[in-house]
Amino acid sequence: MEYFERHQGGERAILVSVSVNMLNDLDDEEFSLLAKSAGAEILHHMTAQRVKPDPKLFVGSGKAEEIAALVAELEAELVIFDHSLSPAQERNLERILKCRVIDRTGLILDIFAQRARTHEGKLQVELAQLEHLSSRLVRGWTHLERQKGGIGLRGPGESQLETDRRLLRIRMGQLKEKLEKVRQTRSQGRAARQKAAIPTVSLVGYTNAGKSTLFNILAESEVYAADQLFATLDPTLRRLNWDGIGALVLADTVGFVRDLPHSLVESFKATLEETLEATLLLHVIDSSSPDMLEQIDAVESVLKEIGADVPVLRVYNKIDLSGDEAKIIYAKPHQPERVYVSAHSQQGLALLRQAVQECLMGQIQNFQLSLKPAYGKLRTQLYALNVIQSEHYDDHGNLLLDVIIAPHKLEELIKKLHLPLHEILGERAVQFQAPLEEFEIKP
Ligand code: GTP
Repeated sequence: MEYFERHQGGERAILVSVSVNMLNDLDDEEFSLLAKSAGAEILHHMTAQRVKPDPKLFVGSGKAEEIAALVAELEAELVIFDHSLSPAQERNLERILKCRVIDRTGLILDIFAQRARTHEGKLQVELAQLEHLSSRLVRGWTHLERQKGGIGLRGPGESQLETDRRLLRIRMGQLKEKLEKVRQTRSQGRAARQKAAIPTVSLVGYTNAGKSTLFNILAESEVYAADQLFATLDPTLRRLNWDGIGALVLADTVGFVRDLPHSLVESFKATLEETLEATLLLHVIDSSSPDMLEQIDAVESVLKEIGADVPVLRVYNKIDLSGDEAKIIYAKPHQPERVYVSAHSQQGLALLRQAVQECLMGQIQNFQLSLKPAYGKLRTQLYALNVIQSEHYDDHGNLLLDVIIAPHKLEELIKKLHLPLHEILGERAVQFQAPLEEFEIKP
């Protein structure tokens, strides 16, 4: 008979957060959430104070001894620091603590490795892991552990560790080549989608905001029609058909975390490739979180950092917890800025669709253009963008084009070529010349 059932699954971990120089800017709860989502079983969360990090151990030697005693007592397999550690600090700590040590970067990389669902995302994460690893090749004793896998050890296998840096560089070179190929294939897929003028709506947001729940609910209510174009796409993309909008692609993305280590921005960016190309971003927000404002800030600053220049609709989720009512808040008429929903109780989902529809209508519209023979350059550029739906000549030899395009893009092209808006667009030209009215944001 078995009296002792060892807990299965989670790796037995001790967390360490150090507030440096009395700056208590760490979010312990978020750190433990991250560790849990990497699959850690948290035995203890230790905090410490330091004026500045110790160059050898990050913490003081007394603290290190204290952690070592706790590792032995609790039989921890892993210690995770909520900081970036230098390779030397990691090594020194492993020697004293007699177990594996990973830092915040290693932890987040591990989560990326588990979550990366696209081929490209996986390659990019492997690349980042190898880069992180290449400066840490010296630790020999982790070989056995590595065979078992575990937090911080997923991804590049043991063979890489045993290899010298030169081989590592070759592997990294190969990965970069593969990534380039994947990107090319992707952009072909994208071109095909643009040709069909299918808008892409991407869900972004802080970890735990409810993106995946919302994605599934929005996608579930649709009959998923297998489509050649999407046959090779991953499960984080869905093609939907919404009333009033028609076909659209809904994309889920990996969650954001605060203070993303800089070295990870690239791999994070890869998981967000789709985001950069999206027609509209749905920024999903946990309206019940006490840290809501910081989280909104964190997401928006990363979006800025990766150069995402895409309109955003804020989706305040979890109103069943926050007590907000389901509603749309407009910045201007027909220009929704926020929508309040609950993926859980399904309140506000119809409003969400309405808001998405209104946003997209502002993004892509149908135009009939009339081009004199001398304006052929505009046709060439529209053709390159794959936005021409049909074309024919009128009795005067003018080319009549039917295009679906974002108004601002069309305006930009026409102005860049110094062509007369009125002549080409007729009455629709007014749309671009009217000054924008200011409207108050409703409370
Ligand atoms: P990451 O994958 O970490 O980026 O998270 P995510 O944004 O995809 O969040 P996910 O959909 O996994 O939801 C996180 C948790 O919030 C889950 O436990 C959900 O069940 C819960 N959740 C999502 N939407 C709601 C909601 O509207 N109300 C409530 N009460 N819980 C919700």
